[in-house]
Amino acid sequence: MTRNIYDVLFGSPKESYRRARANAQPSTTAASSRAEAANALDGPESFLLGTLRDGSPLRIDPARIQGHGMVWGANGAGKSYGLDLLMQGFAQHGRRVSHVDPKGESILIAALSAASQYEQLPEDEREAFAARFRVIDVHEDRLTPANLFHVPAGMSPAFLATLRAAAMVDLSDHEFSDLMHHAVYTLFAVAIALQRGITKKLVRSFFLDDTFRQRVLAPKIADASLRDTIEHLDAILPLTTRQAVVRQFDMLLSSRIARISFGLSPGAVARLTAPTTATITLANCGPSLLVPPNVARTQAINRVVDVLTDAKVRTDTTPEMLVIEEIGSIVKHPVVARFLLEGARTARWKNLAIVCCAQDPSNAIPSEPLRALVLNARWFMAFESDREDASLLLPFLPPPAVGRSEAQRRQVFLTEMATLPAQHCYFVRKGLTPLRVRTRDVQLAKGYTRDELLAIFDERIARRSMVRVEDAERLIAEEERDLLGGEKPPQGAPIGRSAADGVVGTVDDLFELLDRSLAKGAPQE
Ligand SMILES: Nc1ncnc2c1ncn2[C@@H]1O[C@H](COP(=O)(O)OP(=O)(O)OP(=O)(O)O)[C@@H](O)[C@H]1O
Ligand SMILES: [Mg+2]
Repeated sequence: MTRNIYDVLFGSPKESYRRARANAQPSTTAASSRAEAANALDGPESFLLGTLRDGSPLRIDPARIQGHGMVWGANGAGKSYGLDLLMQGFAQHGRRVSHVDPKGESILIAALSAASQYEQLPEDEREAFAARFRVIDVHEDRLTPANLFHVPAGMSPAFLATLRAAAMVDLSDHEFSDLMHHAVYTLFAVAIALQRGITKKLVRSFFLDDTFRQRVLAPKIADASLRDTIEHLDAILPLTTRQAVVRQFDMLLSSRIARISFGLSPGAVARLTAPTTATITLANCGPSLLVPPNVARTQAINRVVDVLTDAKVRTDTTPEMLVIEEIGSIVKHPVVARFLLEGARTARWKNLAIVCCAQDPSNAIPSEPLRALVLNARWFMAFESDREDASLLLPFLPPPAVGRSEAQRRQVFLTEMATLPAQHCYFVRKGLTPLRVRTRDVQLAKGYTRDELLAIFDERIARRSMVRVEDAERLIAEEERDLLGGEKPPQGAPIGRSAADGVVGTVDDLFELLDRSLAKGAPQE
């Protein structure tokens, strides 16, 4: 496979050998070109990534690597720690970082490292530090609320409904007929038009109660075309289709977390949360006791979709780095791969750099997306790699030293990559001489256990982004009663943001729950 990709991307090895020989620059020593590369990466806002082989520091200015990147390497080679250094360095000076971690492992390193920094700060600086983070996670009694029906500025409601419907239908393991897809789209379009959440009761009334549709819903819809669809839904969608969709939503909304995620309207999310000033978003999309693996995977996919969507429509061009771990699991789905690659092509105009990470990209990523990712990347950080993965870097190596053949140069490099010790990597910015680096040691606060640091992270940092499950459920019940009538929900403590609850924006991490229910397998139409 490597040979094919290599040939397609960079021409035949014979040709590149000939070119390399012709381009050989005997006047430039390897050491001086490495020094030049290190100088070119440094800048006024640089951070320390590690040390070069001669012991000199490698400092990187985020502006010098603004652009897409790829990080890979064997299990335990130092990717997650290296990424933490990159993300922390990048996030300085107000740049944004979004981290999506489908394994839920790197996020622990980010959490340990953030808690360590928090503890080491003077008391009066801790609040501002914690406010830099937004954490997307699910705890026993709290979760970061999604905002599925909020229309980002500049986006048409119909397009949002299309994306939401596609996420539900395309990411599920089930076959949806065109009619069912249309039904799901219509329901999302209505929820978005009404700025309401989706509940079981709304789904049933919408699809099965013609009077409710005609008398209650239709008059509230301003868009004439959508109103017309609603008024004639019985004629457009056969009863069996509507019943099949109701069954899907019944299964989906049988889970508590799904009910909350789908049930919260943008208004309810706004009541529960405060606008966030966070610049670092950490999304724990790893499986847990509360989140089964397939749910976690889809959560990661939706998070990626949301960051890209947000980048598309936003006018603020503060540089942002989107770090996607386990990229293989994300691009396995063709629809998502297309969306990501299209995003990668346009994102740089919005100052969004996408950093894709994998243990072994050649195996984990299908060849087409891999080729596009390598082409689009501006830089690479490669830890211990087998020949196939290390070969991805061959085109960016300098010409062989005088007296050495191209084949020898490759052989030496591939052997070196296969035997790199942990924490060592090659940092390659296209156009500059590759640099072998030992990443700086990530220092955790002394005198704390890992569990203590994680507890500090949860309590002082993550919790700020989360809301109480019971508060969310109460608001959903209130809104449902308002739209559909019915029993008054039990009264409880007033809903509001406690000081400790602090800040949050929104999270769209829910379609996973659809998938979970769908994956359980209900009969289709
Ligand atoms: N910069 C660093 N500072 C401190 N320790 C490090 C650093 N890099 C690597 N290590 C050590 O090496 C171990 C493996 O590193 P890391 O977790 O980053 O590997 P990885 O490549 O992400 O592995 P995996 O593929 O399993 O996710 C860490 O547990 C840590 O002990
Ligand atoms: Mg890791």
